[in-house]
Amino acid sequence: MNMRDTIGNTPLVILENINPNRRIELYAKLEFFNPSGSVKDRIVNYIIEDAEKRGLLKPGGTIVENTSGNTGAAVATIAAVKGYKAILTMPDKVSKEKQDALKALGAEIVVTPTSAAPDSPENYINTAKRIADETPNSFRINQYDNPLNPEAHYKSTGPEIWEQTQGRVTHYVAAGSTGGTISGVSKFLKEKNPDIFTLMPDPVGSIYYDYFKTGKINPDAIGTYNVEGVGEDHIARAMDFSLVDEMIQFTDQDAFATARRLAREEGILGGGTGGANIWAALRLAAKLTGPAVIVTIIPDNGIKYLSKFYNDEWMLKNGFEI
Ligand SMILES: Cc1ncc(COP(=O)(O)O)c(C=O)c1O
Repeated sequence: MNMRDTIGNTPLVILENINPNRRIELYAKLEFFNPSGSVKDRIVNYIIEDAEKRGLLKPGGTIVENTSGNTGAAVATIAAVKGYKAILTMPDKVSKEKQDALKALGAEIVVTPTSAAPDSPENYINTAKRIADETPNSFRINQYDNPLNPEAHYKSTGPEIWEQTQGRVTHYVAAGSTGGTISGVSKFLKEKNPDIFTLMPDPVGSIYYDYFKTGKINPDAIGTYNVEGVGEDHIARAMDFSLVDEMIQFTDQDAFATARRLAREEGILGGGTGGANIWAALRLAAKLTGPAVIVTIIPDNGIKYLSKFYNDEWMLKNGFEI
């Protein structure tokens, strides 16, 4: 077994302290048990294996990707195991811990302004495209538009949730960025049982919520927010809204306060998106009357955010309540 063989088969744990409603079972899938500490190991491993099979990535090659950090950690980890070079672009809001982890794994990082618009050459996605074009023998993961991203979740995360709940899952909750997790898992679960209800939380400042409700992109919806890794300022092709039954908007405060509760009440030190997912799952649970089995995801590890929302001073300085 090497590091790549430890990807997936993550634990699904019941949350009984944070959820007082005994008629509703609330489960969290702990994706920080993956080797690089996030859900992204699944898609990167799947996409790299496919690229190797198709001859798109050859020995000694360079893997390039735009990433809020977690996909980068997965790329850096797998590149290290397989002897590839990794070049990763990311917006400057990404925490220093995440950036340093990538460097420690031997990757080269390129940091761009968070404020760079989707059509700006300085935008982190456009920067990755340019680097991939200019670098010989390079391969870009292209997580936003790559159909293999949701397919990785359709083939692994979805079946795991189905098996771990013995097919009892009734509701699935996951925020999205590329949309790979929500789309791939929802597709698998709905094929197994079309009655499974899927809920996607979205941060205020992302365009996904308005797009879901109106079918149109509302440029006025684009804003900045502190939660790292979900919400978008463009529509990713990996995101399939036809698999989402409902969306709910959350604030940074909702996500951070819930992540902090999750740590203190359940012993789960997750990232801010895990907090957002649990916040949305609890809102859903409060509305349900009958028995239900709600499954959600904790996409990454809270250790990456100790200097941010787990830090009381940072919370207060940034106007959040603790
Ligand atoms: C911390 C975190 N949570 C959630 C997600 C969302 O996953 P997906 O891109 O599959 O929608 C990401 C993706 O970057 C992430 O980094």
